[in-house]
Amino acid sequence: MAIQKKVKRVTTHVLNEMKLRGEKIAMLTAYDYSIAKIINRTDIDVILVGDSASNVMAGHETTLPITLNEMIYHATSVVRAVKRALVVVDLPFGAYQGNSKKALASAIRIMKETGAGGVKLEGGKEVKESIERILTAGIPVMGHLGLTPQSIHKFGTYVVRAQEESEAKKLIEDAHILEEVGCFAIVLEKIPAKLAAQVTKEIKIPIIGIGAGIHVDGQVLVLHDMLGITQEFSPRFLRRYHNLYLEIHGAVQNYIKDVKTLDFPNEKEQY
Ligand code: KIV
Repeated sequence: MAIQKKVKRVTTHVLNEMKLRGEKIAMLTAYDYSIAKIINRTDIDVILVGDSASNVMAGHETTLPITLNEMIYHATSVVRAVKRALVVVDLPFGAYQGNSKKALASAIRIMKETGAGGVKLEGGKEVKESIERILTAGIPVMGHLGLTPQSIHKFGTYVVRAQEESEAKKLIEDAHILEEVGCFAIVLEKIPAKLAAQVTKEIKIPIIGIGAGIHVDGQVLVLHDMLGITQEFSPRFLRRYHNLYLEIHGAVQNYIKDVKTLDFPNEKEQY
């Protein structure tokens, strides 16, 4: 009889416990089965099927064009590969704003069709009703404040958010709203480290930062950025752990050379 090692799943409860004991949460994005399978063999805590797929997978300039169906396709591929990490899926632009019934329907489709463990959406007070309705169906919700890329046409730029006192005050109020309403965690994107530290201290649920400094409960990066596949995007907060762009480019050039010089395939590589 084969003995199967049971993998302990990361749940929202586990993330809460991690915050309580001061253990940092590591989160990365993934969008496809093969890469998610590699990440699954690491100790990653949370995998986000981010709507950044719109940029890094589809080549759009913003996250706005990606559709719910496309997010579901990416998420289904990722969930198939992941046994341990909590998989969270972004609700795309247009799937939840201004209509809480639509928000619930979108979140239900994601949970039912992908098998993910929760959804993420952007905004504070403006999306409170949508979050409340999604939560009534028992769907875990992760919030996202600070630089919220789905609102890029309102901001007009990707600069650091909440540097002005009034915006910082609203962000703190929004974080409290998200906590009170029942979100299980909040992503804080590109805000001053001091403000992120204050929010992390005041709020009991885990705070995951991206460009929000060290004094948060965990970090998230877009996988294609930290692996150095994307070259044109270089914000200060991004640490590149590899230069996959060069690796892939070099491998493809070598393949082309081998084909052209009749080096590939050789005797052993044919039937
Ligand atoms: O879509 C995404 O990848 C995100 C992260 C930047 C947090 O929302």
